[in-house]
Amino acid sequence: MQTLFITGGAGFIGSALVRLLIAESDYRLVNIDKLTYAGNLESLAAVADDPRHLFSRTDICDRAALDALFSRHHPAGVIHLAAESHVDRSIHGPGDFIQTNIVGTYTLLEASRAYWSGLAEEEKRGFRFHHVSTDEVFGSLGETGQFSETTAYDPRSPYSASKAASDHLVRAWHHTYGLPVLATNCSNNYGPYHFPEKLIPLMLLNALDGKPLPIYGKGDNVRDWLYVEDHARALKRVFEGGRVGETYCIGGNAERTNMQVVDTLCELLDRFRPRADGQSYRTQKTFVADRPGHDRRYAIDAGKLKTELDWSPRESFASGLEKTVRWYLDHPDWVSHVRSGEYQTWLERNYAERRTA
Ligand code: NAD
Ligand code: DAU
Repeated sequence: MQTLFITGGAGFIGSALVRLLIAESDYRLVNIDKLTYAGNLESLAAVADDPRHLFSRTDICDRAALDALFSRHHPAGVIHLAAESHVDRSIHGPGDFIQTNIVGTYTLLEASRAYWSGLAEEEKRGFRFHHVSTDEVFGSLGETGQFSETTAYDPRSPYSASKAASDHLVRAWHHTYGLPVLATNCSNNYGPYHFPEKLIPLMLLNALDGKPLPIYGKGDNVRDWLYVEDHARALKRVFEGGRVGETYCIGGNAERTNMQVVDTLCELLDRFRPRADGQSYRTQKTFVADRPGHDRRYAIDAGKLKTELDWSPRESFASGLEKTVRWYLDHPDWVSHVRSGEYQTWLERNYAERRTA
């Protein structure tokens, strides 16, 4: 049984990947997560009792702790998702983004390189460091065109600049030291267990609470949406079959303006949980000041991933959004815990010592 390190495995995408790998592979996982405000072990309740899932509350900036984990667990690879991930937070306070996304990735690369250099030849050849990144490193598109693996980097927010820096470090560690790396750049994810500061869960929960739905600018910025479980499947596919040193773009082929997203959400809620006064949730839409430096449009050409590794998304935006809305309506406990910060207490109550790595 091979061991993999998953960093950021208590976050939105990391927890989806952990749930997928426990359900659909034989890997033993060491989930390395600092548990910031965005990390939530309650999102891992489905795998909490599985002996193949070990958890370590560790900061990826802590080199000594990483070294100890490498020598204790002898992993066959690392899938690196730990990051500060919210653009608005990066505008208000970029420091944590520089620290985790740049210094943390550097620290993890150095710990991985030290471990990898000491491996026997065959293990060394098989080792993979898979860096999970974003389409935001490519900047902002006009009315037409798509990002691909050959698009030049042009990050424009503190978040995307810190992710771009981490991408460059990962490539440098490949070219300079020979570390066998893979990188993926993905578009906007949505789905269950999404922290309610991002557009879709924020609008959904505000709508149910009777609060305003704050649309930045005119609501005409465009994102390419991918259901989170499709992203997790793509990560597994690239980790297992991707060519070393290569980058793969991942996208949902589902471009929508923010206004279209919010309107579709409101329609779904009008159907599944109609307002007591009979009005549509759309009446709660409110225009607010735009995000500074707001990227206009993102779109991904995922053709390389389709051609080389036969991946394409299973969910359309309509089916994925309907699943997402139903999930939030069916999980009021997760929602109330995440909003009250109570999940840290849940963690201490429910996460048994024996599963910590
Ligand atoms: P998230 O914010 O939900 O989760 C991030 C996780 O990283 C949390 O569990 C947090 O506790 C952990 N973490 C943060 N700092 C850490 C540190 N110093 N040490 C250890 N753990 C730390 O993020 P997400 O949306 O799941 O994104 C995961 C990754 O995917 C990120 O690298 C992000 O840039 C990338 N990505 C996200 C999207 C998206 O739409 N959400 C799209 C493309 C790429
Ligand atoms: O493209 C991939 C990126 O997608 C990831 O790398 C990031 O980690 C992830 O957070 C996401 O970034 P965005 O900035 O695109 O996502 P967010 O949900 O914050 O915003 C989506 C769009 O909705 C964006 O155009 C801003 C707008 N928005 C957002 C919020 C929170 C609003 O209009 N109102 C809001 O309240």
